Amino acid sequence: MKRLSLALWVAAALIPGVAVAESIGMTPRLDAVPPPAESTAFKPDPNLVALGKRVFFDPRLSEPQGTSCAACHDPGRAFAPTLKGEALRIGVPAGSRPGHVAARNAPSLLYLRYIPHRYFFQDDDASFPSPFGGFFADGRADSIPEQIRGPLFNPDEMGNRSARDLQRKVAGTDLGQALAKQFGADAVHEPERLVGALGKALEAYFQSDELAPFTSRFDDFLRKRTPLSAAELRGLALFRNPDKGNCASCHLMVESSSRPERSLFTDFGYDAIAVPRNPLLPANKDARHFDVGLCQTARTLKWPEPDQWCGYFRTAGLRNVAVRQTFMHNGVFRTLRDTVAFYATRSTDPAQWYPDGKRFNDVPARYQGNINVNAVPMNRRPGSTPALTEDEIDDIVVFLRTLTDARYVALMPDPAADKARSVHTPKTGAKTVAVEHQAAPGPNTR
Ligand code: HEC
Ligand code: HEC
Repeated sequence: MKRLSLALWVAAALIPGVAVAESIGMTPRLDAVPPPAESTAFKPDPNLVALGKRVFFDPRLSEPQGTSCAACHDPGRAFAPTLKGEALRIGVPAGSRPGHVAARNAPSLLYLRYIPHRYFFQDDDASFPSPFGGFFADGRADSIPEQIRGPLFNPDEMGNRSARDLQRKVAGTDLGQALAKQFGADAVHEPERLVGALGKALEAYFQSDELAPFTSRFDDFLRKRTPLSAAELRGLALFRNPDKGNCASCHLMVESSSRPERSLFTDFGYDAIAVPRNPLLPANKDARHFDVGLCQTARTLKWPEPDQWCGYFRTAGLRNVAVRQTFMHNGVFRTLRDTVAFYATRSTDPAQWYPDGKRFNDVPARYQGNINVNAVPMNRRPGSTPALTEDEIDDIVVFLRTLTDARYVALMPDPAADKARSVHTPKTGAKTVAVEHQAAPGPNTR
């Protein structure tokens, strides 16, 4: 087992007296058990929350001005992006500079407060410890103050050249005054302290109840108030059934608990499910470019054998997933139904998802051994019957729609319309997921 040496390394770290650091890279803890999210009480300072909210919506913080955090994390769409025009065509949000789009899809920021810091955990039946937590699809940031440097200074997002440039813009504004009042004058004059202050304020906002509403029909179901429909209950059962959808093995939920924060539909772990390449992403015009995910972070943090994590991305939480316009870290899917159908037929009919016979076309050949081919429903042979029928895929989609918070319900596309737009073909057919993309120039079409 190639992961054994990491296991030994961690085991050594756990033996008292053995001279190994108590951390893996910058990972601070090796918890015996994962931190229980639900035990955490969130009581952010209301002044900080209000300030953080102000920062979040301030369009002056980008270069050129006009792109606030909310521009890509739309509060009207569960803090996920509302894409238009070119950004919608590509599948990822637009940055502040004309013609620039983010390198990845943006997640919803609702329920963000439950994302744990990075940690390693070894399950009883696992032969090696696995990473959990951290911000971004590759966990490269471990706190909000660290995380916001991403969007603020990324030329494809908010485009500030430096903390000094940002500081010049904020000083002298009403926002600068409010920050000085909360954090002292230094926080507005000293660029690094300004970034820290913005981070603290945003972190408080993300911890507020405003960003953890728990108002979905599923939450009402958990609290034993409203029943789910027959189709929704079938979908729930398929979602949990280890021989059918097996979704809950990664998208964790605790149906028996009336506390909805135990059902965040992610275990905050990472997996390599090999979603198809999105040829429309600007970086993907270079056929040699791959977004390898977690191993980038593993290399930076000097984890042992970092390459074993190439192709791994953090398991997305599925609350409000039905109001997204594009799915997966690279925005490759356009309908929720396609996203679910991908799981059902990735292994049985790969040609449907990967063009030109290039199975797993977004993972470099040398890392394809990392791809999860063991988990149901992705563990079948090509040509065999999928673990989910077409009706069962529909049921899971119907269930996922119950995870939408009340405020966003009207935004969900009609399931029939969603299905009509889907590119998944029930039986092996000529149409592939790439059809939509082949209209545009991309490495796979030339
Ligand atoms: C141009 C679009 C854009 C803007 C503007 C933007 N973001 Fe994001 N955000 C993204 C993308 C794309 C990701 C996912 C990146 C990744 O996984 O590598 C992301 C991820 C995040 C995450 C990580 C969430 C998670 O589940 O790990 C947080 C937190 C976040 N953004 C907060 C902010 C804040 C705060 C601001 C304003 C300072 C902001 N974003 C501005 C596009 C944007
Ligand atoms: C082995 C772990 C695993 C299993 C099993 C699994 N998923 Fe996922 N899921 C992931 C990971 C990892 C991602 C993020 C992948 C990426 O972005 O490349 C993801 C992403 C998703 C997304 C996209 C979310 C978004 O915001 O774009 C949906 C929807 C989804 N999964 C639904 C399901 C359903 C339905 C099932 C069962 C049929 C399922 N998953 C089974 C690990 C898993």
